Amino acid sequence: MVVLLNSRPCFVVLILLAAFSCFSPRLCFGEDRITFSTPIKDSESKTLLSKSGVFRFGFFTPVNSTGRLRYVGIWYDKIPVQTVVWVANREAPINDTSGVVSISDDGNLVVTDGRNSLLWSTNVTVPVAPNETWVQLMENGNLRLQDNRNNGEILWESFKHPYSSMLPRMSLGINNGTGENTGLTSWRSYTDPSTGNYTVGLVAFPFPELLIWKNKVPQWRSGPWNGQVFIGLPDMDSLLNIDGFNLNNDNQGTVLLTFANDSFLYHFNLDPNGAIYQRDWSTSMNDWRVGVRFPSTDCDEYNRCGPYGSCNYREDPQCKCIKGFVPRNNTEWSLGNWISGCVRRAPLRCERVKNGSSNGGKEDWFLKVQKMKVPVNVQPSLANAQACPKVCLDNCSCTAYAYDQGIGCMLWSGSLVDMQSFLGSGIDLYIRLSHSELKAHSKRAVMITALVLGIVFVSAVCVLLACLKLKKRPGEPKKDRSVEQLLKRMEEVNSGDEAASNQVKLEELPLFEFQVLATATDDFSLRSKLGQGGFGPVYKGKLPEGQEIAVKRLSRASGQGLEELMNEVVVISKLQHRNLVKLLGCCIEGEERLLVYEYMPNKSLDAYLFDPLKQKILDWKTRLNIMEGICRGLLYLHRDSRLRIIHRDLKASNILLDDNLNPKISDFGLARVFRANEDEANTRRVVGTYGYMSPEYAMEGLFSEKSDVFSLGVILLEIISGRRNSYKKDNYPNLLAYVWTLWNEGEAASLADPSVFDESFEKEITKCVQISLLCVQEVANDRPNVSTVIWMLTTENMDLPEPKQPAFITRREKSEGESSDQSSQKESINDVSLTSVTGR
Ligand SMILES: *[C@@H]1O[C@H](CO)[C@@H](O)[C@H](O)[C@H]1NC(C)=O
Ligand SMILES: *[C@@H]1O[C@H](CO)[C@@H](O)[C@H](O)[C@H]1NC(C)=O
Ligand SMILES: *[C@@H]1O[C@H](CO)[C@@H](O)[C@H](O)[C@H]1NC(C)=O
Ligand SMILES: *[C@@H]1O[C@H](CO)[C@@H](O)[C@H](O)[C@H]1NC(C)=O
Ligand SMILES: *[C@@H]1O[C@H](CO)[C@@H](O)[C@H](O)[C@H]1NC(C)=O
Ligand SMILES: *[C@@H]1O[C@H](CO)[C@@H](O)[C@H](O)[C@H]1NC(C)=O
Ligand SMILES: *[C@@H]1O[C@H](CO)[C@@H](O)[C@H](O)[C@H]1NC(C)=O
Ligand SMILES: *[C@@H]1O[C@H](CO)[C@@H](O)[C@H](O)[C@H]1NC(C)=O
Ligand SMILES: *[C@@H]1O[C@H](CO)[C@@H](O)[C@H](O)[C@H]1NC(C)=O
Ligand SMILES: *[C@@H]1O[C@H](CO)[C@@H](O)[C@H](O)[C@H]1NC(C)=O
Repeated sequence: MVVLLNSRPCFVVLILLAAFSCFSPRLCFGEDRITFSTPIKDSESKTLLSKSGVFRFGFFTPVNSTGRLRYVGIWYDKIPVQTVVWVANREAPINDTSGVVSISDDGNLVVTDGRNSLLWSTNVTVPVAPNETWVQLMENGNLRLQDNRNNGEILWESFKHPYSSMLPRMSLGINNGTGENTGLTSWRSYTDPSTGNYTVGLVAFPFPELLIWKNKVPQWRSGPWNGQVFIGLPDMDSLLNIDGFNLNNDNQGTVLLTFANDSFLYHFNLDPNGAIYQRDWSTSMNDWRVGVRFPSTDCDEYNRCGPYGSCNYREDPQCKCIKGFVPRNNTEWSLGNWISGCVRRAPLRCERVKNGSSNGGKEDWFLKVQKMKVPVNVQPSLANAQACPKVCLDNCSCTAYAYDQGIGCMLWSGSLVDMQSFLGSGIDLYIRLSHSELKAHSKRAVMITALVLGIVFVSAVCVLLACLKLKKRPGEPKKDRSVEQLLKRMEEVNSGDEAASNQVKLEELPLFEFQVLATATDDFSLRSKLGQGGFGPVYKGKLPEGQEIAVKRLSRASGQGLEELMNEVVVISKLQHRNLVKLLGCCIEGEERLLVYEYMPNKSLDAYLFDPLKQKILDWKTRLNIMEGICRGLLYLHRDSRLRIIHRDLKASNILLDDNLNPKISDFGLARVFRANEDEANTRRVVGTYGYMSPEYAMEGLFSEKSDVFSLGVILLEIISGRRNSYKKDNYPNLLAYVWTLWNEGEAASLADPSVFDESFEKEITKCVQISLLCVQEVANDRPNVSTVIWMLTTENMDLPEPKQPAFITRREKSEGESSDQSSQKESINDVSLTSVTGR
């Protein structure tokens, strides 16, 4: 939606171009359907165009192909490079222009040639007469066979039968409910759309994992999904940045991979050489721009280094035997033929015992190898982190273990195959070795530990110095000389690499001088004040170079101490996502503490939502986009691969809108950085905003991802209804209570803001209300996580669970929207009461 607004001139031009390039504009325009009486004939050059003007369906000949074979498929219409995303008669092309696509007598969509032989069919059982089915090319490139019952029952759709490309909002994977398993298949060559040798798909067990096969033999794997990321992708963050990238696993055999981008000119493609590319259309380059690509390095090649070999593409040679192992065949190994791998130097204790050599000597131990792509054939174990190594030691065939918070204990037996060592991602793998291998290692371990500790210490000192003690010359933000020297020394120390990726990159976070910010904001004048945040006023400013900024000046009485400030600065500076507000820098001088953010001209969501004049600007589609955007931003916070961040103060006034009304989450002052092993933390200090706080947080100070989901649910309801959560009507204490009653009366859609309501959205609105209610359920465990919320929001026609009663928290006295702080905490907690309203 937003994209269309954004690019309207260009869009119009493209449509005009499309019209001129068509021999018969009347046929090219508006036609997005095939019915029983209106087939498509190749001889008439007739095609379908989706309503979005992006996709076209019809007959084509692959460019550069030698023959003149005709295929039926879907391709991008707007762009000059022929890009076909789906092909029907891939195995049965037509050698002339006699082809016809029509609804056959059995109601299916079929491709036939001039001799009337059937080349391809949707091949489903159609329960209605053929003149009651039709085929439509949807806006997003999905081709659907529908019938007239219930306003269009879907009989078949191309999104469920993908070929070589995955488009936004398509899902790949296994659905245990329907038995569907969708993956991608490559073309034979760039000019031949017939079935190639490569396929890509998900496997569900023991953990979801993405694989590329060549004739059913694995070529590449992603490593297991740990609920947050695939452990085995070199740079998972780049995937996380893909809009709405998501894997849903119900642990019942259903795993579905999805992504969403409102721009349709965006897809994943499995190319004829067996690589997956993520591509988006660049108008400036006039070509596809390649983003993520798998496999991306030589080391990604499956089993490149053989058993017990580990690959590192930055090293030469790339393959190394794991410590304690030696090449099976030194001649081959030194020639770069690594496939036969490595063998154990000293046998394990239990092997020695088995061979009958007395008691076998000392117990084996584990070598810790950091940041690894774990080997294939993992076996899950129910053991906890402490018991995991013991479980492995107790089984003679166990050769390695690893523990990941999201997965639990993982064990391997036999040879360890397809390992890779990373710089930033991956997890620690513990490899079982004989006790005799211990000595060689321990000395180095001490050295490495000392080095790591040293680096951590120096970084900590630097962070402190940089944010505390900075004095700069006027003009450009500049670093103190002593800090500069320290940073330089730090760089020297970690030029090695490893640790460098973990620390805050202070150089990338400019420090501003107070005087510069004072000038930029007109001495913090009332005129430039944008609003009052939880911890102080926010001002609009303009830097000498002309860049507009928003400056948050933390009030001395705010209670936001140095600790929180440092927290916010460090946390936000690491996060980059299009649904999060960007922190440009900070300033600490004397008593003054300021944060500098990118400036959002459209202010915050509440300024639109609750303003009778402005709320009309947010039409339903925009609101849907905002809901999704907030979810994606939040997902990024919850799922960043190194830190897990709970926002703790999500509310409408903390959601800012950019030029295109895309939402950006702001104010991470309350964010806590979770270490990997903390799921739920108990905090003495309850901070947050009443009305948005989950019951467990307000009453017991317990916060988790699920308390953010609660706040999210409240925001979603506010967006749908255009009413504040404090909304009072007919004795309903708040919006939640009112919604719950409407829901139970089957009137959920009437919640919608009258200024956006339209009957055609009724189903969608009801669904959004249901999702919101799932988020505000009283018991935290009942609430879905954010990735599930996104999945529910973006998947059509799915069965959602029935929500349980929400928690209605009401509070007397304090006005809504006000953040609580330390001083008022005690009394406010006592003021919180739980009210139950049951639907009639
Ligand atoms: C077709 O061939 C031309 C010339 O060899 C080449 O530049 C172009 O990239 C090819 N197009 C495709 C889609 O392969
Ligand atoms: C097209 O293919 C058919 C068989 O499928 C064959 O009978 C016919 O001769 C071919 N026509 C041309 C022009 O090659
Ligand atoms: C249609 O499906 C059935 C079974 O599902 C299969 O036996 C048959 O070959 C299919 N027909 C076509 C034309 O694909
Ligand atoms: C479909 O065809 C049948 C007879 O073949 C006719 O009675 C019916 O009205 C038609 N339905 C539609 C929707 O055109
Ligand atoms: C696909 O695999 C088969 C069997 O391994 C092989 O004969 C054929 O050449 C391969 N085709 C391509 C396009 O690589
Ligand atoms: C699919 O679901 C059924 C229950 O609906 C379950 O019994 C079965 O084990 C599941 N299949 C897999 C592969 O998990
Ligand atoms: C879609 O993806 C492209 C490429 O990553 C990105 O630049 C663009 O902002 C996204 N647009 C929307 C509306 O999601
Ligand atoms: C090692 O590999 C080379 C080349 O493949 C072979 O000639 C040699 O016999 C192998 N040596 C052993 C000990 O297997
Ligand atoms: C076990 O004994 C056999 C011969 O008795 C020998 O070949 C093998 O290498 C021994 N294995 C271990 C692990 O000691
Ligand atoms: C040891 O591990 C192997 C392979 O996972 C398994 O088959 C065997 O049952 C295990 N043995 C014991 C005693 O647990």
